[in-house]
Parts: sequence; C-alpha cells; structure tokens
Amino acid sequence: MEQVTLGLIGGGTVGGGVFQALQRNGALLSSRTGSTFHVAKVVVRTLEKPRPVPIPARLLSTNWRSVVEDPTISLVVELMGGTTTARQVIRRALELGKPVVTANKALLSAHGEELFALALKHRTNLYYEASVAGGIPIIKVLRESLIGNRITHLYGILNGTCNYILTRMKLEGLEFQDVLDEAQRLGYAEADPSLDIDGHDAAHKAGILASLAHGFWIRPEQIATSGIRGITRMDIQFAGQLGYTIKLLAKVKQIEPGAGAKARCRVQVSVSPTLIPNDHVLAGVNHVFNAVFVRGDVAGDTLFYGRGAGQDATASAVLSDLADAAVDLRNGLQSRIPPFVSHERNGGVLPLAQAVSPYYVRLSVIDKPGTLAKIAALLGRAKIGISSVIQPEGHVGESVPLILMIHDAPHAAMARALAQIGRLSVVRAPTVMIPVEHF
Ligand SMILES: NC(=O)c1ccc[n+]([C@@H]2O[C@H](COP(=O)([O-])OP(=O)(O)OC[C@H]3O[C@@H](n4cnc5c(N)ncnc54)[C@H](OP(=O)(O)O)[C@@H]3O)[C@@H](O)[C@H]2O)c1
Repeated sequence: MEQVTLGLIGGGTVGGGVFQALQRNGALLSSRTGSTFHVAKVVVRTLEKPRPVPIPARLLSTNWRSVVEDPTISLVVELMGGTTTARQVIRRALELGKPVVTANKALLSAHGEELFALALKHRTNLYYEASVAGGIPIIKVLRESLIGNRITHLYGILNGTCNYILTRMKLEGLEFQDVLDEAQRLGYAEADPSLDIDGHDAAHKAGILASLAHGFWIRPEQIATSGIRGITRMDIQFAGQLGYTIKLLAKVKQIEPGAGAKARCRVQVSVSPTLIPNDHVLAGVNHVFNAVFVRGDVAGDTLFYGRGAGQDATASAVLSDLADAAVDLRNGLQSRIPPFVSHERNGGVLPLAQAVSPYYVRLSVIDKPGTLAKIAALLGRAKIGISSVIQPEGHVGESVPLILMIHDAPHAAMARALAQIGRLSVVRAPTVMIPVEHF
C-alpha cells in the first residue's frame, strides 16, 4: 500500500480531532482507499500546552515552514485558522506542488480565488470539505454529485451559534442577550461572538457554496450580510403568530437571465435573518444543527442536515478530503474536477437593492388614530402592498408595536419607504425589516 505522509498544521480542536479520528479509523480509511496515512508532524504554537487529545511530543513542532518544506511530507493539512500565516502555509505548499486540505472558511472567503489559481498553476489540488457545514458533505455534493445540475436555489442554515440562540429564543421565549450570555458561559459561543452573530461566518460559507454552485468567484463584499443582534423575543413571537420561524438563512438564487445574446447569469447571495414558513423543513432545523437545501434543475429539491461544527464532525470532513487526496496522489490526478467550473464565467452578483422579496416589518408607533393610515399611504405611494397587519391593543398615546407583512417588493424601494416612515413623529424606534422566504 502507498503511504501518504501528513503534515498537520494545527493540533487544536480540529487538528486534535483529525489525529484522534485517524487513530480510530485509519485502518478503515486505508482499506477503503488503498493508501495508509501517517502523521509525521503536528505544528502548534505552544509545545507545552496541555491538549485534550494527547499528541506525542516527538511529533510536535512550532516551525510550519520546515514541516511544509520537508520532502517526505506528501500532503499538508492546514488546521490552524486565521488568514495570515495560514495563507503563507497554503501558498508555500501549493508552490511546492503539494496538495493541501484546509478547513479554513475565513481564508478561502478572503483569498480563495488566489489559492485555487495557485493550485491550478502548480498542478495540484486544494481540498476544503471541512470549510462549510462541518460534518455535512456539501462541497462534494455540489462539486461532484450534483455536477449535472444548474443550482437554481441554495439555502443554508450555516452557523450553529446563531441557530442555537434563535432556537432557544423561540422554544423558551428568551431574549437574545440572555441566550448569548449563557452560550458564552457554556463555551458554545466565542468570547467575541461578532463573527458568528453578525452573520460573517455564515457569509464566508455562503460565498464558498455560491462560487462552487455558479462557477465564478463571489467576493465577501458582494454578499449582503446582516446578523441576528436586532432580533427580539417579540419578533419571534409575532413571526410565530403569522406561521413563521426566524432563522439566519444564507440564500443563493439564480436570477433568470433576460433575453438576448449578452444576457448574463446573475446570482443573488445574501445572509440575513429570514422568516421561514413553519411547514418548511428548514424551520425544524434546531439548536446547533446546520442544513443545506439545494434545488437543482434536474434533481429537484435535496436536503443535507448534520452537525455544522465540532471536533468529530469537522474531522469527518477532513478525513473525506484525505481519502480524495490519497486517491488523487496515487493516480497522479491534478485538478480532478477544476475547483470552480467556469460554466458561468460571465456571471455577476445581483445588488441587494434590486432583490425582490416579501418582508416582515416591525414598527414602534404611538397608539393614536390615523397612524396606520399615514404609514399605509407612504407605502402605497412607493407601490408597496401590505398583505396583513397585526397591531396589539395598547393604550392611547403609548408606544406599541405595529407588524406589517409586505408583498413582494424591491429592497431599495422598501429601504426608501421605511426611511420616510421612520421620520414620522408617530414612529418611536428604529424599524425592523426581515425578508420572508417562500421557497
Ligand atoms: N472548531 C470547529 O468546530 C471548526 C469547524 C469547521 C472549521 N473549523 C476551522 O478549522 C480551523 C481550525 O479551527 P480550530 O477550532 O481547530 O482552532 P484551534 O482549536 O484554535 O486550533 C488551532 C491550532 O493551530 C495552532 N496554531 C495557530 N496559530 C499558529 C501559528 N502561528 N503557528 C503554529 N501553530 C499555530 C494552535 O496551536 P496551539 O495548540 O499551541 O495553540 C492550535 O493547535 C479554522 O480555520 C476553523 O475556522 C473549525
């Protein structure tokens, strides 16, 4: 059997998990792939640090360069995270023609285009199954299993921390900050949670999936991103009354090209809190679980569900890449399937302003006669239709919530109309506007 000699760059949560999983299932992986996997070195920052998964001291190194450049290392596995040293690690490995496995969504989101181009130039492969949705094998699904489909719609619940918070807010009637505080105490949320709760982590993953599905690189700044900080218990309760559940949803939609030879494929990519009908399968994806719903023009609807992060789930995704890399190394396959198949080279991202959606709107208004009429008049002037209204009974002269469900409307028109409404003297707090998805 051929041996694949691994340099693990990172021996933390995921690196430790991969080390452990190889001890547990290395023989199984060998019997299935026909290659053996030998971890020659594990690069860490601090040699003496106590590690939940023990790694023999003789394997540890703090010098990533010497490991990556070691001619006996045939596969580099980048599990250190971050976008500076990790970028150097991957660049150096690819320049040496060595295949690389990475779980680093932040790095791929920021520099993926450059790294995939480098892999092509040096006739080697960059594998990244663990970068999106942990244990759900969604990269392989998009790259290989659904290769014969145009992906018209892709929806993802891609951030476990946000999904955990929103689930507890809904099931236990809690406020956002209370759940976040507890999640931080229990170690489910980072001390600085902004990457997760402001939607950036989900946007990194959405960008990778969108680029893979549509064959042209989608940059993070092209992804309209908003997080869940502004979602209140009240929004979750009103959404529930209307038959919806609020989730942080990544959306990738192909917009039908217009007629004409120069028509371009346009894709809408966004991450935002979204009202999902309670009878849709994604509304039932709870706690830390992730799910990706993919609609292909041939396959129809498909759904992938599982743990989106964590040591074992992420290690499973890395093992899948190790297996692919071993088979490709043995067969001398470079870019077995080009990473971003250029079927839509001429594609573009639809600006958020042009996106059309139904909306949930929560206003905080003074309870007095004529308030609703003023608001409805401003919306009417902007050609925005109201499909339903909830106004809980309040006390005249006091501030009360006013919930409006809005028919399909362009984002830009909504933003303009709500800015005008916000200037009315009867409106007492910033307005909340959340898209609704009918799939
Ligand atoms: N954790 C998850 O559930 C999960 C899920 C999907 C993807 N990912 C991705 O997987 C990657 C790793 O995440 P993780 O949670 O395993 O991180 P982690 O627990 O912080 O581990 C990082 C490892 O890299 C080492 N390291 C960091 N900077 C280094 C440097 N400059 N030189 C040498 N070693 C360095 C650390 O050394 P020390 O051990 O000495 O500190 C540690 O062993 C990230 O890109 C992350 O986004 C993680």
